[in-house]
Amino acid sequence: MSSQPIGVFDSGIGGLTVANAIVDILPAERLVYFGDTANMPYGGKPAETIQLYSHRITRFLLQADCKVIVVACNTATAAALHHLRDSWPEVHFVGMEPAVKPAAQATRSGVVGVLATGGTFRSERYAALMHRYAANVKVLQNPCVGLVERIEAGELDTPETAAFLRSILEPMLSQGADTFVLGCTHYPLVRPLIESIAGPAAVVIDPAPAVARRLAFILDEHHLRADKTDTAPIHQLFVSGDPRPFAASASRFFNAQYQLHHQLIY
Ligand code: DGL
Repeated sequence: MSSQPIGVFDSGIGGLTVANAIVDILPAERLVYFGDTANMPYGGKPAETIQLYSHRITRFLLQADCKVIVVACNTATAAALHHLRDSWPEVHFVGMEPAVKPAAQATRSGVVGVLATGGTFRSERYAALMHRYAANVKVLQNPCVGLVERIEAGELDTPETAAFLRSILEPMLSQGADTFVLGCTHYPLVRPLIESIAGPAAVVIDPAPAVARRLAFILDEHHLRADKTDTAPIHQLFVSGDPRPFAASASRFFNAQYQLHHQLIY
């Protein structure tokens, strides 16, 4: 048993989609969340820059006494997870992985659309994933440039965001894609739009529930689960940029009690 919190980080609001999945299955756990909104988006930045940010954030979360660190960002996982593990070999880390494997199993047409960021697509981790699981399917990729910023600005269901997503999904649909991977933790926030464009027959896969289950497994394996209490924990959310847009978005979809703080880290 451990009453220490779980650290979760992302470039911004996207990791809260993973935090929601964690809260769903681990309701007694307290989260310390860091959204690096001053430096978002991560997707177009060099891997070395993402490694630097990820190190700073991990240090902050460990100083906040976190027992496990969830890298709730595909781009940071791809660029920095192995460095973080090398730097803190005693710390338990959980990372994201675009759901290429379940998508390759789910597709009936043999064509899968992967929506991620440029950083994720450029990574060795993604290349290894493709090599391992996508040999027998056709994979169509799009880095959705500008979508993360739209989501951070709270434009989750505007006509402009719908038009943007149509411009990405329609070419994939016309090439036969029937399964779509949400390979960036921001994208589940526009899942309703994606589903309405892709149609009822399409399968849309968000790996967040699988990541939360992996976290639960690690907590059990190391006897780190929090004791059950009568009151729900209050999660601590930190952002490096202006907290106001974050507050507006978080209140729309983060299903738990929290306090939000502005925090610069160096
Ligand atoms: N949410 C992030 C991911 O899962 C990155 C978004 C960004 O900052 O580009 O890849």
